[in-house]
Amino acid sequence: MPDDVTLNPLERLSARLADDLTCVDGLIRTRMASENAPRIPEVTAHLVGAGGKRVRPLLTVAAARLCGYGGADHVKLAATVEFIHTATLLHDDVVDESAQRRGRPTANLLWDNQSSVLVGDYLFARSFQLMVETGSLRVLDILSGAAATIAEGEVLQLTAARNLATSEATYLKVVRGKTAALFEAACEVGGVLAGAPEAQVRALATYGDALGIAFQLVDDWLDYGGAGDATGKNLGDDFREGKLTLPVIRALPMADDAERIFWRDAIERGRSEDFARAQAIVTAHGTLEATRREALAWRDRARDALGALPDNELRAMMADLADFVVERAS
Ligand code: IPE
Ligand code: IPE
Ligand code: MG
Ligand code: MG
Repeated sequence: MPDDVTLNPLERLSARLADDLTCVDGLIRTRMASENAPRIPEVTAHLVGAGGKRVRPLLTVAAARLCGYGGADHVKLAATVEFIHTATLLHDDVVDESAQRRGRPTANLLWDNQSSVLVGDYLFARSFQLMVETGSLRVLDILSGAAATIAEGEVLQLTAARNLATSEATYLKVVRGKTAALFEAACEVGGVLAGAPEAQVRALATYGDALGIAFQLVDDWLDYGGAGDATGKNLGDDFREGKLTLPVIRALPMADDAERIFWRDAIERGRSEDFARAQAIVTAHGTLEATRREALAWRDRARDALGALPDNELRAMMADLADFVVERAS
């Protein structure tokens, strides 16, 4: 990829680390195979073949290199992180009954829920094998902890669904769990592997956490305000699933009588599928816009955290990546 000003920050950082990422891609493709159960490569090839932005493995590689790492194990950790991510996507699309991912029909739609759950399990197991190969117990602790936290976030979200009393604090807990935990771990293990000073490892974790929260806030914004063909996912999934995301949580206290009845029918009882009305309400009350502003605030926190890290070209590119996260359309 040419080092061109027309590239977005994700593409620029990916181009800068292209050699490392080619190794990560090769490892992902080798380790997602299985000679014993042909359904596994069918499903993984479908999902991995569709691409994905590869933000999390990029973060691992960038964090390691930023802290001066000169070895090759960061490739294993980057592949580990992408496997954990891919496993959670397979499971998430079953849980959310989603029909589209990465611009393609989901695996649960093309095959079935059973295949998605089991191939997701396989990818989790493969991720454990990969991280063990680094021989670092601390890295194992961080990544296995993140995998547990993601599951907690998904379960918390499940039990909070259709509950109109869900607070912003609970929402933030869900977001931190299901999404930010892996961003945080992806960054942190890069620093740990490089043997960076503790203050730098902490700064990387803070950056990843804030970046992950900004990322999910934008995802929740896109679910109401994005263009479906650009996101590669169906719009309105959160609404139809009765998920209390920030645009709705903030619109509830502003609701008049008619809107209160609408939200109760749609979210609590799952009886209205009038997504256009939901979009109109969150737009009119400005809570869609407020969600975007909240994402920008977390973007700023992510950028600020980088101040504790070595001042070099990679750090500047990671700061710009935070801008990409809030401006992304997919
Ligand atoms: C999707 O993540 C899941 C969320 C945390 C919103 P990405 O948007 O990074 O998914 P891919 O890998 O690029 O498809
Ligand atoms: C994203 O959950 C987090 C995980 C996949 C663990 P969402 O359900 O919000 O993400 P999308 O919108 O399906 O990508
Ligand atoms: Mg989902
Ligand atoms: Mg989900």
